[in-house]
Amino acid sequence: EKEPITVLVTGAAGQIGYALVPMIAKGAMLGPDQPVIIHMLDIEPAAEALNGVKMELIDAAFPLLKGIVATTDVVEACKDVDIAVMVGGFPRKEGMERKDVMAKNVSIYKVQASALEEHASPDCKVLVIANPANTNALILKEFAPSIPHKNITCLTRLDHNRALGQISEKLYVHVSDVKNVIIWGNHSSSQYPDVNHATVSTCNGQKSVRELVGDDKWLNTEFITTVQQRGAAIIKARKLSSALSAASSACDHIRDWVLGTPKGTWVSMGVYSDGSYGISPGLIYSFPVTCEKGEWSIVQGLKIDEFSREKMDSTAKELIEEKSLAYSCLN
Ligand code: NAI
Repeated sequence: EKEPITVLVTGAAGQIGYALVPMIAKGAMLGPDQPVIIHMLDIEPAAEALNGVKMELIDAAFPLLKGIVATTDVVEACKDVDIAVMVGGFPRKEGMERKDVMAKNVSIYKVQASALEEHASPDCKVLVIANPANTNALILKEFAPSIPHKNITCLTRLDHNRALGQISEKLYVHVSDVKNVIIWGNHSSSQYPDVNHATVSTCNGQKSVRELVGDDKWLNTEFITTVQQRGAAIIKARKLSSALSAASSACDHIRDWVLGTPKGTWVSMGVYSDGSYGISPGLIYSFPVTCEKGEWSIVQGLKIDEFSREKMDSTAKELIEEKSLAYSCLN
């Protein structure tokens, strides 16, 4: 039997945490033959609820689950962690300024970065989900300088999956036959969902999504805003934000990163920009990536038209502003 992999979930007493930990324990993140140990971190006011989640994990008797730690101590939570999924954060409450929310999250991510740096496995892979996800990941990277920067990512796979879902609904095809959409930029409503390179598997081979949809107006307007605004639409419907789809996409993100993307397929991940596609280095920006042997690489050489260029730059601009707001909170 394989050695267990230790996965940390922060904010584990919250909504996404509650959907995510059973998926991890069932093998949805690391494969059906990979034993796991789950560390769950939350804050003191949620300690009792966190313990309730631990009780349920015990009661579910997951064969792959070899250990559970439920704690409010960040050092204990980060000890020997191989994969860290950062869901915990400070939510924006009514009447709060953007800067105040940013300040809270900057201080949380600074502390958790240091704990990961000191106590996690040296090759720990990190996925930040809590908003502002790209900027929280950037702060984490800054304060965990010994963790390779390629190991620090943020979640835009949910947006990617939402884009696949919209195309599949429009074309009446199965979602698993649609691939290679791209989410560029920030996990916010400024993101750019791009279908210019996306294809559908048909009985006559791969066909371009643009050709099959045959409605550029829909693709350039409604499709984009539906994906950008999907999070808000879920809140409106459920009175709670996306949780099961966020948890499932988090599993997809880690699984593809660790086990590799299928040949000919790319996915979207928020990663540290190396300047590809003219995006400022030093931002955590969502790019199309392929993964092999536990490493992602940005897909190179895609043609970018003027429409896309403008949208890619405007979401980058928002990230630059977020970055400077975050840095102003540090001083
Ligand atoms: P939630 O409010 O149900 O859960 C958050 C949990 O984090 C709470 O249990 C809270 O006590 C805990 N927490 C707060 N500060 C903490 C700290 N310093 N350390 C550890 N835990 C802490 O929220 P939910 O719905 O689970 O969402 C979590 C985050 O994910 C939010 O920031 C949300 O905006 C974000 N999100 C991101 C998505 C993405 O695609 N990147 C999609 C959906 C949500």
